[in-house]
Amino acid sequence: MNANATEIILSEHRSIAAVLDGLRYFTRALGNGSERPALDFRAARALLYYLDIFPEQFHHPKEDLFLFTAIREATSEGDRTIDQLKAEHGQGEARLLRLMRLVILAEFEPDRYLKDFTTSADRYVIDYLSHMGLEEEVLLPLAKRVLDGIKTIFKTSNPVIIYTATGTGAWEAALVNTLSAGDRVLMVIGERLAKTLRKGDVLARLGGDEFAILLEPMISTAEAVAFAERIVEIMKTPVILLNNKTLDVSLSIGIALSPSQANSAKEILEKADEAMYRSKRISGSCWHVSSGMPLPVAMKH
Ligand SMILES: [Fe+2]
Ligand SMILES: [Fe+2]
Repeated sequence: MNANATEIILSEHRSIAAVLDGLRYFTRALGNGSERPALDFRAARALLYYLDIFPEQFHHPKEDLFLFTAIREATSEGDRTIDQLKAEHGQGEARLLRLMRLVILAEFEPDRYLKDFTTSADRYVIDYLSHMGLEEEVLLPLAKRVLDGIKTIFKTSNPVIIYTATGTGAWEAALVNTLSAGDRVLMVIGERLAKTLRKGDVLARLGGDEFAILLEPMISTAEAVAFAERIVEIMKTPVILLNNKTLDVSLSIGIALSPSQANSAKEILEKADEAMYRSKRISGSCWHVSSGMPLPVAMKH
């Protein structure tokens, strides 16, 4: 798993933990009966609002859609933990709405609702901290182990994001980036490319707007070219951006074969790069094979 992706999850957990801490401080103060100024209720509502906006609508969906999906595709080892975490995500919104309702009631009718609010808020904080603890102690180490192995195939100095046939890797792109229009385009391209993969093929985003596909087991030149043609075809559909505008995208493709042309990952990437740069000189999606690579006459491009 990309180190950045782990760091981002941990840093989001730290932010959430700080807010939970604030909520606990507030309920303790209320519980002691020492502070009940209106401003504190306002602060409590702000803390709950943050928990609704950030974890509920951003952090959890990201984990559900990308992290959990990626782990499930790689192994069944985390299934029970993921089932539990997903169930907790599912209950989060309802629990939070109840707290939001209770904090309003507690402000206006403290004698009747304050105890219920502080008890429920404390329980929520304890449960949430243990939820994050489970993710950090069980799931992130598992993700690191099962999503990492394949990365060594590409020995580049750039960050590498691995996709599988069903799109694993998109979650890391979403975590590492902030989902600007450009990031969305990269995610869509990554997902489209992932759909072309056969069992055993590997797709990786090497960084920036560069992707690499390792076709395995070894296929013929004709098959590699047919694969590139399929990619050219799927890139013809414009990408729909979040504002519903569309964007035409094109890919410049370079093809290289190993072991006939290269003996190492570095060498094959360099060969493919050289061919890709020739494609770049032509507008629109197209492919070129690396210099010296034999090509059936019918396919000369
Ligand atoms: Fe979570
Ligand atoms: Fe989390």
